[in-house]
Amino acid sequence: MIARLDAPLKVTGGAKYGADHTFPGMVYGYVVLSTIAHGELEAMDFTAAREAPGVLAAYSPFDPLKLQTATSPLFGETWVPLQTEEVTYYGQPIGFVVAESFEQARDAAGLVKVTYRELPAKTSLSEGLADAEDAPPARDGAPPTLEILEDGVESIADAFAASPVVVEATYTTATQNHAAMEPHSAVAVWDGGEVTVYSGNQASNLQAMELASALDVPLEAVHCVNPFVGGAFGGKGRTSSPAFLAAAAARDLGRPVKAALTREQVFTATAGRAATVQTIKLGAERDGSLVALSHDSWCSTDTARSFVEPTSHGTSREWYATRNLAISQKIVPLNVPPTTFMRAPGEAPGSFALESAVDELAEALGMDPVELRIKNNSIAPPGKDLQWASKHLDECFRVGAARFGWQHRRPGGRTDGDWLVGMGVATAMFPALRFPATVGITLNADDTAVVATSGADPGTGLLTVLSLIGAESLDIPADRITPKLGDSALPPGGLSGGSTATASAGTAIMIAATKAIDELVALAADPGAPFEGAEVTYADGRVFADGRTMTFGELLRALGREKLEVTGSSAPGEEVTKHSFSSWGAQFVEVRVHKWTREARVSRMLGVFDAGRIINDKTARSQIMGGMIWGVSAALHEGLEIEANGRLANGDFASYLLPVNADIPEVDVQFVEYPDTLHNAVGARGLGEIGTVGMAAAVANAVHNATGIRVRHIPITIEDLLTD
Ligand code: MOS
Repeated sequence: MIARLDAPLKVTGGAKYGADHTFPGMVYGYVVLSTIAHGELEAMDFTAAREAPGVLAAYSPFDPLKLQTATSPLFGETWVPLQTEEVTYYGQPIGFVVAESFEQARDAAGLVKVTYRELPAKTSLSEGLADAEDAPPARDGAPPTLEILEDGVESIADAFAASPVVVEATYTTATQNHAAMEPHSAVAVWDGGEVTVYSGNQASNLQAMELASALDVPLEAVHCVNPFVGGAFGGKGRTSSPAFLAAAAARDLGRPVKAALTREQVFTATAGRAATVQTIKLGAERDGSLVALSHDSWCSTDTARSFVEPTSHGTSREWYATRNLAISQKIVPLNVPPTTFMRAPGEAPGSFALESAVDELAEALGMDPVELRIKNNSIAPPGKDLQWASKHLDECFRVGAARFGWQHRRPGGRTDGDWLVGMGVATAMFPALRFPATVGITLNADDTAVVATSGADPGTGLLTVLSLIGAESLDIPADRITPKLGDSALPPGGLSGGSTATASAGTAIMIAATKAIDELVALAADPGAPFEGAEVTYADGRVFADGRTMTFGELLRALGREKLEVTGSSAPGEEVTKHSFSSWGAQFVEVRVHKWTREARVSRMLGVFDAGRIINDKTARSQIMGGMIWGVSAALHEGLEIEANGRLANGDFASYLLPVNADIPEVDVQFVEYPDTLHNAVGARGLGEIGTVGMAAAVANAVHNATGIRVRHIPITIEDLLTD
């Protein structure tokens, strides 16, 4: 099994992340954040800050850096800092102090005096539900409200009335922050009218577009570099405040500028996952078949309504075969930090609600939760003619149940000394998507090849995957491939987001490799070439004709060429009009709850996934493991507490709970491998996000099995498990 190509650099500290870059004459910026949640800046007094040692400049909405609204085709408009006196959340970037050293900038930022005209702030999702608004259409254009009724059924209420067994409950999920290990940061260096920006992100070409529009310079004048990204999870999709500020301040000052958010600042000055409230109602026949499913969802969003957590659309819209379906999606605008994509947006919180509800239905039916899920397996999304191209969810459940020892689960769980032990299960699903991607392939005269694309590897393993698919497509060993990514000067390779990178870039590699081989074969047979006029074939890195053979490097040398360069592009096409595509999984969890202290600990977990072809077992497994661990975190640890004044009560690593090694037992990951070549030629479907989907419900369902206590919110705390 091939190891991650970037691993040696990462573990030895040799990998240079954005903020690791330093340049002669570089100066440091520190971001100033608001300390109210809603109102207007009345004044910002920088007198003391400007007189502090080493300070070069101080910027604010009263003395702004020249920036315009940033745009890119994928994200539309992205907010840029310091352009308005309006404050809409606690912790909003409102100032930027630049000094000769980081410490000087930080000290001076502490001297800035801000006065506000404060307005009442709305910060509570539960209190804001009354003011909910219809969500805009989902990303695929689907309306926020959708009803599918079988012939002869007048309303979803009628469908429930006709259901022999009905369960209904409301579930809530917490606000989370991506909390990537690498805080959002940037180093910007101008050279004449051109700027190079070193800043972790999920798509260097999109970041270049956003920076070019914000800085009002041609796209060619912006070069974004990010070969290493210290975690992103959706939180580095858009360009961050430090990147906008560093680039604009560096232009203003004529010096390279470095800006990095502190860990605490990351919690507000970026964007996170929305909190949700979800009501689910399930109606079923006594044999478990679903008659009706309704899912009404509310999510928090910031006042700019930046992102909708598509819990209803992301889960209940597609997961199960149901004769009747009604979903709705509402948003609750609050004075809270922006919301954005976060690993499995929609599906992660949505699956907590849906998969808890399915567990409640299994209990009401007296049915095994695995059986109930298999019973309602869908062959197509409800109301759509497009069948799943490849779906082996049943097999995931069967393989998982056998491997996990599901047959030993008993209603009411079991005890082991002072521990109450329970098992829980849940379905995982994440749509298989692709984005347009272009990859460049260069064949070199020394028999090596370069596979290059602008896309990012935020820890996913894309660098290794480029090398593997490149090697396979060119039919040469992987150690002769140099993969390159994370640079906007490379062919535009789409986004490392939406679990799309392998399918998108991989398909483009195959197309580029075919082009490279076609050109090579044609060159070989050209007049004056070594195989003039012959019928040339290619295999194993060599051209063949007339019983003779040359490596591609030998051929290029014979032709007096250093290299052959091609690009290949791919984009989703006709396949989406013929089938539906999704990755699938079955999550199994064992939880132990202490009889007296009521602490809940996950003691075993297994995820079995159907994600098409697995290109690299190690990187795929690591992606899933990380997601499953995140699911445990969502279930038992993670959640931001927002105080009435909008301040985050636990917006730092001392109090925002995350699992540590001692909280996580061995994570067992299995794949059932069925290449999905109807989706793309590589046969791989996304697996970056699905690992977290369903996990929180599996944990909550196991807690219920162990204790009999049904907790309908995450994170689950000790207080939830107390008994009299
Ligand atoms: Mo992911 S939430 O698309 O980075």
